[in-house]
Parts: sequence; C-alpha cells; structure tokens
Amino acid sequence: MIKTEGLCKWYRGHSSHKVSAVQDVTLSIVKNSFVVFKGPSGSGKTTLLNIIGTLDRPSAGEVFINGNNVTRFSDIALSGLRREKIGFIFQDFYLIPNLSSWENVSYPLVPLGISARNRYETAKTLLEKMGLGDRLAHTPEELSGGQQQRVAIARALVNRPGIIIADEPTSNVDEETGEHIRSLLKELKDNGATILVATHDASFEKPADVVFKMKNGMIG
Ligand SMILES: Nc1ncnc2c1ncn2[C@@H]1O[C@H](COP(=O)(O)OP(=O)(O)OP(=O)(O)O)[C@@H](O)[C@H]1O
Ligand SMILES: [Mg+2]
Repeated sequence: MIKTEGLCKWYRGHSSHKVSAVQDVTLSIVKNSFVVFKGPSGSGKTTLLNIIGTLDRPSAGEVFINGNNVTRFSDIALSGLRREKIGFIFQDFYLIPNLSSWENVSYPLVPLGISARNRYETAKTLLEKMGLGDRLAHTPEELSGGQQQRVAIARALVNRPGIIIADEPTSNVDEETGEHIRSLLKELKDNGATILVATHDASFEKPADVVFKMKNGMIG
C-alpha cells in the first residue's frame, strides 16, 4: 500500500558540504500495519516520514501510495490526497494559536463542507475520548504541552484517515498519557488504519508489526 523506491533527500548548506538526510530508502509497508521508525537524532526519521506523507519532495526516488506514484502528483493533487487519506501528528504540534481546541480539531473538516454543529459534535467526541472534554474552548496557550499534543492527535484523526503518520507522538507527555496515545494508535490500527510512527520511545515496539532502524539516513 505504501512503497518507496531509492528515496534520497539531500540538503546543500552554506558550505559546499552536502547533507544526506535520507539515502536510498526502498521499503514496502502493507496496508493495516503498525510501523515504527527508530534511530538516533538526526538519522532522518522526520525527513523520511515527511516525504512519505507527501509534505516534502524527495531529491531522488519515488513514493507510491495505493499504487499511485505520488512523486508525479501536482501540489494541488497532493493536498487533496493528504486531506482525504493522511492524518499527521507532528513533533511540534502546529496548532493554530488563536483557535480553541475544538476549532483546531475540526479545522480539517471545513473544506469538506460539514456544518459547524456537526464539526463541533465530532471534535467534542474526540476530545472527550482524549480526556479533554473540559478544555473544548481553551486556546493552545491555555493548555499544557501534553494537552496540546492530545489536541493535535484528535485533529489528525478527525477525518478518519487510512494512513496516520506520527512523529514523536509521546515526546512531550507523561508516561500515562504516552500509554494512552499508544493504545489509541493501536486501536486505530485494529480498525483498519496503517500507522507510521517515528520515535525514540521503546514502548512502541510492543504494538509494532515492523520496526525499521534508521542510521545516517539509511534503513539498516
Ligand atoms: N531543512 C534542512 N536543511 C538542512 N539540513 C536538514 C534540514 N532538515 C533536516 N536536515 C538534516 O537532515 C538530517 C536528518 O534530520 P531529521 O530531522 O530527519 O532527523 P530525525 O531522525 O527526525 O532526528 P530527531 O530524532 O532529532 O527528530 C539531520 O542531519 C538534519 O540536520
Ligand atoms: Mg525528527
């Protein structure tokens, strides 16, 4: 369902030195699997997940999602694909500062033409599930880091994406919230989603079907 062929990403900085963030990554991820990418800081996990999630384009190589070579898609086609099929949980949460929790969560539903009432109800249900039923009207700055993380997770799930990409989803939360996030992702997998997680958190290896170890931009 997700395949990459010879993916590379390099950056050229101010010096002529070339940084290879991802080097020749060829992998295959079957539908409905729970996949973990681990590896030291700087090994290319975020870069690789951003390319697979079509947020970033590779310097070389190709990405296939459901048999489509998405490397050839236009930016407009890619944003449609992301909106319909992919939910992102980022290392930094990227919540919209002046929107409340429920507005942040329901934001991806706006382009789908869903009424405000329905968007509110959907966001409320998800936030209650994340233990934030009493924080619906709070803006991000009124929330703790872990609470913001949970709002970001609820937002990633609101349009029921088939693919969920999570970059360090438990890096800013306590152990109990981390466990909650892991079991939620596992539950989504059991309901048919494909989960890709980049993490330093060894507890993710238990729910994982596959663990890819990254080092120097390569999968070892
Ligand atoms: N925009 C950029 N410009 C130049 N170099 C970059 C850029 N983004 C990432 N890199 C480099 O690419 C390499 C991989 O970075 P990446 O963020 O993918 O690592 P990571 O495995 O996610 O690390 P961490 O565990 O710290 O999140 C690093 O050496 C980094 O310095
Ligand atoms: Mg990273």
